[in-house]
Amino acid sequence: MIFDTHAHYDDEAFDADRDKLLQNMWENGVEFIVNVGASIDSTKEAMKLAKKYSFIYAAIGVHPSETAGLTGEDLEWLKKKAVNPKVVAIGEIGLDYYWPEPNKDIQKEWFEKQLYLASEVNLPIVVHSREAAQDTLEILKSWQKDKTSGVIHCFSYTKESAREYLNMDYYFGIGGVITFKNAKKLVEAVSYIPMNRILLETDCPYLAPEPYRGKRNQSSYIDYVAQRISEIKQISKEEVLMQTMQNAKDFYFSDKRFTLKDKEL
Ligand code: NI
Repeated sequence: MIFDTHAHYDDEAFDADRDKLLQNMWENGVEFIVNVGASIDSTKEAMKLAKKYSFIYAAIGVHPSETAGLTGEDLEWLKKKAVNPKVVAIGEIGLDYYWPEPNKDIQKEWFEKQLYLASEVNLPIVVHSREAAQDTLEILKSWQKDKTSGVIHCFSYTKESAREYLNMDYYFGIGGVITFKNAKKLVEAVSYIPMNRILLETDCPYLAPEPYRGKRNQSSYIDYVAQRISEIKQISKEEVLMQTMQNAKDFYFSDKRFTLKDKEL
């Protein structure tokens, strides 16, 4: 069975058939989905989906490209929502220097504020980092003293960079990109990353794997990602699915955290 650790089913790309698609997940081999917020609005939608479907959980947070205009009230609101038992992480948060706006200082400020929020509510973090390898690493290193666990979603950096994150006990989100012909650098990183640190993800509706590249992505397509990783790691696809299921459960459903949260509720 598949655990899709990073999806955006609130996206308008699913407006026409969202419920039909989600109702058939189990039959298509998908057991769990974490729907990840990228703004305050999409966080609200993620929480609605988590309420409606027992197998969907929510990550709540604001993507770096959406941080302009965030306020202290937004942060307080996120903090209140974090105690909901279906909320399993703070994310996606991070730095995205591919887009010039908002400027780096604003992105860094809200990345740090949301990191400290994660420490406060004792939830793992889902990190989005694009063309910002050095700054991401520096911020995460300085935050490490009170860290919870974290995943670098859609990992796109080098093997050397993977080593740095491994030293800090991070997980790596691997999705459709690994099936692309030009994924040489990522294949090298995945060969290097131990199986117990890999989480499978779609980032749907984006980044569909081959043979669906360019089309709308969905959780069942993770099968192609597992197949490709099994070739790289020279183990069976079933082993990849089993190990990554366990990793995702360890990451999102840690018992310690649920006990803590029950007390707060
Ligand atoms: Ni995403």
